[in-house]
Amino acid sequence: MTESIEQILILDFGSQYTQLIARRIRECQVYCEIYPFNIPLKEIIKLGPKGIILSGSPSSVYDVKAPFISKEIFHLNIPILGICYGMQLIAHLFGGMVEKSKKREYGKAFITLEDCTTIFKGFKEKKKIQVWMSHGDKIGKLPPEFYTIAKSQNSPFAVIKARKLPLYGVQFHPEVVHTPRGKEILSNFLFEICKCRQDWTIKGFIQNKVQEIRDEVGDKKVVCAVSGGVDSTVVAVLINRAIGENLTCIFVNNGLLRKEEKEEVVRIFKENFKINLKYVDAEKRFLKKLKGIVEPEEKRKIIGREFIKVFEEEAKKNREIEYLAQGTLYPDLIESISHKGPSATIKSHHNVGGLPETMNLNLIEPLKELFKDEVRKLGLELGIPSHIVYRQPFPGPGLAIRILGEVTGEKLEILREADAIVTYEIGRKKYVREIWQYFAILLPIKTVGIMGDERTYENLLAIRAVSSKDGMTADWYKLPYKTLEEISGRIINEIKGINRVVFDISSKPPSTIEWE
Ligand code: XMP
Repeated sequence: MTESIEQILILDFGSQYTQLIARRIRECQVYCEIYPFNIPLKEIIKLGPKGIILSGSPSSVYDVKAPFISKEIFHLNIPILGICYGMQLIAHLFGGMVEKSKKREYGKAFITLEDCTTIFKGFKEKKKIQVWMSHGDKIGKLPPEFYTIAKSQNSPFAVIKARKLPLYGVQFHPEVVHTPRGKEILSNFLFEICKCRQDWTIKGFIQNKVQEIRDEVGDKKVVCAVSGGVDSTVVAVLINRAIGENLTCIFVNNGLLRKEEKEEVVRIFKENFKINLKYVDAEKRFLKKLKGIVEPEEKRKIIGREFIKVFEEEAKKNREIEYLAQGTLYPDLIESISHKGPSATIKSHHNVGGLPETMNLNLIEPLKELFKDEVRKLGLELGIPSHIVYRQPFPGPGLAIRILGEVTGEKLEILREADAIVTYEIGRKKYVREIWQYFAILLPIKTVGIMGDERTYENLLAIRAVSSKDGMTADWYKLPYKTLEEISGRIINEIKGINRVVFDISSKPPSTIEWE
């Protein structure tokens, strides 16, 4: 990251909320990064953060394998805020006592404020405020170096402060929305205590990044695979802004795209940006490879391999290319960082992996510090149309994993038409922003129907709509009956090849979002 930007360091002890802390801080326009709890002290000193936050953890400080830090961190004269386990760890390392709560405190609770300076600046003393608790341990005895600045019914030490050092601890989670004034508390830590500047803005990010890319790439050539999705489009537009014509984008039509998608992607790139776009029609090639294949994993592997082959062939045509740009996001990086720490969540990534190793190109990942919502803001700031910026995710293997069984040109045509109706009907509803993904799946099952006076024997189609934050878990979205009726009526009447429509009412887990 550019040196002039101030940052907050979050040490991850494995809490499910660690990313949320980072997002809240960035919403306050302060840059922050998450590091595993065991980052060496000298690296922390080198990073020179304005403040440090110790996250929560599923562990207890008394566990044999509890994640610990060195006490020296408290004497760096850098303000520290411990959240939940982070606070218990501070108390424990100063010789206080942490004990099991009589009952696990989970959910809404109230704390009474006793000192409204520092992190409670702007609050009223003796007042109660609502917070969100999620802990099984609590501080039983406070070390003498600390005093209490807020109490809850369950704990006399709900918020603590060191007498001489800039150390703070909160038993609750200020980062979750169920702590309504949590953002004010975090802001107070950032601005009252750490004296941060609000210098993390998307405009500033663009300026810095453009310069960084220019410095790194110089007059060398860069290649970037684009799919029309938000991440690859943002990467392309950003790099194009930095190096102009030296960027070439390759858009591979694998024949598994949605209705009119290939035309749309080409048009968007042509109309909105002056970017070299190479369109590769590989439709026949992919379909040939998929002939007779029914097993989902096999389909995925064939599509992935073929994509790399096509991309490689195209990129190699231009011998001057030295860099490959990819849309890796910050959560992808944290997942791999967290392997070193105790975090339990490990996501399986479906992106175009493997490209750099096989191609021997230098990698540039200009979005690797950003969260998805920041990428969207960046996209808007770069002038990318909002319907692309807010596009629903679409899997790399495309419609192939939404056609159960063998993929054929004919089935693709039927699914494309049906999917277009689902997309249009739901896409124009007000509630569409609440839905993470909505699409159709073609099932290789024939059912009997009646059309006019004639018996029909045609395919079954499923509709899927889910709400989700990140695709890792999802709930089936309760589409209004009226919408379902409109969709099924239109599909059965307008599309030859489908005579029955069903709605998928499964959540993830135990189901997945895609059917294959
Ligand atoms: P699942 O089906 O695993 O999907 O619940 C979770 C999210 O990931 C998307 N997905 C993919 N994205 N390549 C991708 O780029 C893939 O192979 C792939 N498979 C699933 C899916 O659409 C959902 O958003």
